[in-house]
Amino acid sequence: MSAPKKLFIKTYGCQMNVYDSERMAEAMGGQGYVETDRADDADMILLNTCHIREKAAEKVYSELGRLKPLKALKPDLKIGVAGCVAQAEGAEIMRRQPAVDLVVGPQSYHRLPQMEERLSRGETALDTDFPEEDKFDHLKSRPKARRAPAAFLTVQEGCDKFCAFCVVPYTRGAEVSRPAPRVMQEARELVERGVREVTLLGQNVNAYHGHEGGLAGLIRDLAGVDGLERIRYTTSHPNDMDDALIAAHAEVPELMPYLHLPVQSGSDRILKRMNRSHTAESYLRLIERIRAARPDIILSGDFIVGFPEETDADFEATMELVRQVRYGYAYSFKYSTRPGTPAAERPLVDADVADDRLQRLQALITGHQHDIQREMVGREVSVLIERKGREAGQMVGKSEYLHSVHILDCAAQIGDIVRVRVIEAKTNSLASVLV
Ligand code: SAH
Ligand code: SF4
Ligand code: F3S
Repeated sequence: MSAPKKLFIKTYGCQMNVYDSERMAEAMGGQGYVETDRADDADMILLNTCHIREKAAEKVYSELGRLKPLKALKPDLKIGVAGCVAQAEGAEIMRRQPAVDLVVGPQSYHRLPQMEERLSRGETALDTDFPEEDKFDHLKSRPKARRAPAAFLTVQEGCDKFCAFCVVPYTRGAEVSRPAPRVMQEARELVERGVREVTLLGQNVNAYHGHEGGLAGLIRDLAGVDGLERIRYTTSHPNDMDDALIAAHAEVPELMPYLHLPVQSGSDRILKRMNRSHTAESYLRLIERIRAARPDIILSGDFIVGFPEETDADFEATMELVRQVRYGYAYSFKYSTRPGTPAAERPLVDADVADDRLQRLQALITGHQHDIQREMVGREVSVLIERKGREAGQMVGKSEYLHSVHILDCAAQIGDIVRVRVIEAKTNSLASVLV
């Protein structure tokens, strides 16, 4: 038998791309490919790309430029572009970088095996359809190897919200939910292979409607799966946080007390121009209801600063909202113009002003983040152990609040869930001892 061919996948962007990369590797497994972590060792290189901001898209072209010389060393090497840049730019990618052999969008990668056959005949392949069939039904079931104790599971894809700045509705298409029985089946398979925590993924995961009880109904069913100890979900839209989901946070112990709930801005004027269809006030009231259901919940969010026509007063409203919420984590980005989106036509905020706002917002958020980490000192948390630490006897995992936790002198194994007491807050993690 000939030696297996090697596949190198580099993943950019969100968790949905991480999940898709795993599934693409599985699909290519059927074509005789095994994964490698070295580009220079590979017979095929796939970049699974992100189009969310200009920098993300440009990174792909610089990486392709770096990879091109590998083709001179290895003429049979195939280079492919998958993900959201593939969807947004299609054939343009091959024009701009002729070293690219394959372009495949996020909804058509179940067709990778057929595409690879075309490549092996010396042709190129392009597929950026939004096919009728569900790609997940056409992918091989996941291999039986033991897996890390925490896994992603995509349950919903696409977005119908059309925020004025965002490419996702165009790159990922309309909102689609996977039927609950399929999700349950995949969750059981993951558990059989050692997974104890799943993070349910979707661009708007709380708009999930593959279960008659919505995302809350799915979470309650998953909580009944033996061996599945922890459930998370991301990313949520404020307008889809219904009563049933809030109640699940109070009533389902397996649902972890952490919620990523992006708001983008604290100014109603800007929220309106962003087409977010919620106000700062309605968001704050929603947070109150969530905290009433689960008082210890840690919140995280996303912010865009320097959105077209954002004034100092608009920005101050964002700072005020952040002070009121006190996020445990938050991600803030400078507005990036995306071709084809409604906001792309509007006048930009001065770049220095936007930079200054970004720094001020990040300083405020980081301050809260560190305060909240320090408030954990002395408290007991439970940790799902994911790996060994750098120092002897140390194990590392995640608390229910998604803090990274180091456990000193720990005899427990990867995959165990242990109770620990936090003894110190470091910059990006907590140190702890077993109780
Ligand atoms: N579906 C999710 C996440 C979408 S993308 C949601 O609705 O929140 C992740 C984050 O990228 C967004 O929350 C937003 O803060 C940021 N983002 C999206 N488009 C952007 C743009 N054009 N410029 C800067 N940041 C952007
Ligand atoms: Fe983009 Fe808005 Fe949809 Fe989130 S809700 S993916 S920010 S359009
Ligand atoms: Fe990026 Fe596409 Fe995710 S644009 S953030 S990879 S949905």
